[in-house]
Amino acid sequence: MRDASLVVVASRLPINDAAASEGVFEWRRSPGGLGEALHPVLINKPATWIGWADKPGPTPPLPDVDGVHLIPVELSEDDIRDHYEGFANSTLWPLYHDAVEPAVHHRRWWEAYQRVNQRYADRTAQVAAHGAVVWVQDYHLQLVPAMLRAQRPDLRIGFFLHVPFPPPELFMQLPRRAELLRGMLGADLIGFQRIQAVHNFQQLVAKVLGANVDERGIELDGRVTSTGAFPVSIDTAEMEALASRDEVVHQAAKLRADLGDPQRVILSVDRLDYTKGIEHRLKAYRELLADGRLKVPETVLVQVAIPGRERVEQYRQLRDRVEREVGRINGDFGRLGVAAVHYISQVFDRTELAALYRAADVMAVTPLRDGMNLVAKEYVAARVDGCGALLLSEFAGAAAELTQAYLVNPHDVEGLKDTLVEALAADPSEPSPQMATMRAQVRAHDIQAWARSYLTALEAACAGR
Ligand code: G6P
Repeated sequence: MRDASLVVVASRLPINDAAASEGVFEWRRSPGGLGEALHPVLINKPATWIGWADKPGPTPPLPDVDGVHLIPVELSEDDIRDHYEGFANSTLWPLYHDAVEPAVHHRRWWEAYQRVNQRYADRTAQVAAHGAVVWVQDYHLQLVPAMLRAQRPDLRIGFFLHVPFPPPELFMQLPRRAELLRGMLGADLIGFQRIQAVHNFQQLVAKVLGANVDERGIELDGRVTSTGAFPVSIDTAEMEALASRDEVVHQAAKLRADLGDPQRVILSVDRLDYTKGIEHRLKAYRELLADGRLKVPETVLVQVAIPGRERVEQYRQLRDRVEREVGRINGDFGRLGVAAVHYISQVFDRTELAALYRAADVMAVTPLRDGMNLVAKEYVAARVDGCGALLLSEFAGAAAELTQAYLVNPHDVEGLKDTLVEALAADPSEPSPQMATMRAQVRAHDIQAWARSYLTALEAACAGR
């Protein structure tokens, strides 16, 4: 086993499962995903990624992908059901997203969460070089930092939470709240997307664990952990280069022609998740068509909804509801050969995605709660022409940075409708100062800057101990 000095530990390995089963190993690049975010930071670095290969049972050794060494952690069917689908995605995920769907609690899921976190920690402890930087990712693995430190106090351990960290009133509902907080405090630095999350965490550790919080960090049992907000971003230069290609510009024009050359194209690209506000958005669109404020075929909506977590009941039900509503809208407002909503539930490749961004006059990103939302940043980066409008939920982390967007409260259907109409009224061929400001923001704060600032802060946190 080769020693590793930068180790990323995440629930999944960043490989494309469908391709891997045919023997082709490539980096999994799904819009807004964690693998997508970390790709530019890690490629061709002497890094190791520890994670699950997306199938139950043992995984044979994997080849390096884009220069990164991959180490699989084995999960059984029970682990997948009780850890990934259960505790991670049916307890923590809904609770961390404002409980827009109720969080479900089962004691057996907690046991699986501990067991699986221990397995990731053990595997990491085996492969990390002495003094290595270990960067643990996201809500699936909150216990790993403390479990790892117990075995390997020499390591420099970072933890980054990609999703929101909820206010104390919500977090306090978790039966095992103290253990979850202690698990995270095994890290030297805990990174969040937004400063509000840092405050929520600090309040909770003081209240639940009696930890001391001051300007040095959080002190518990004689150890100090630092915290900070590090808003994650995208590879802005890569998206700009892609979106500038002639092939993409032609494809964007062809897409518009395929859509029937509408005057306005609205685009949404989401994982099919109840946090994304897809139903609220469809409702607003339906009402605008019903009120006659929007008309088909002058305006069309393209909704890309990428399915996932399909064995979790809430996701199955959501998919049924969304697809029924799309069918209803098309039944009521489409015509033969002219759809009101073009609905696609497939993963797009990066080139097609860039073409879609360039074809869209208004990009509607209206989640009910979102840690960041990288699709919003990708759209801005793709608009190398300076045109286009971004409709953005106030409840996406990205809203703190993209303040020139058309900001909306997605729960306010009237406000959503009015703001969508306002965004559609802007001249789509006219570059706007708002887009220019947002473009400057995503250029200055790209994924490289994010990784640099996090890893520098981690070094500083470790140096001070
Ligand atoms: C969110 C999470 C990521 C996760 C992604 C896809 O962005 O923060 O950790 O990778 O969703 O979810 P999935 O369950 O399909 O891995």
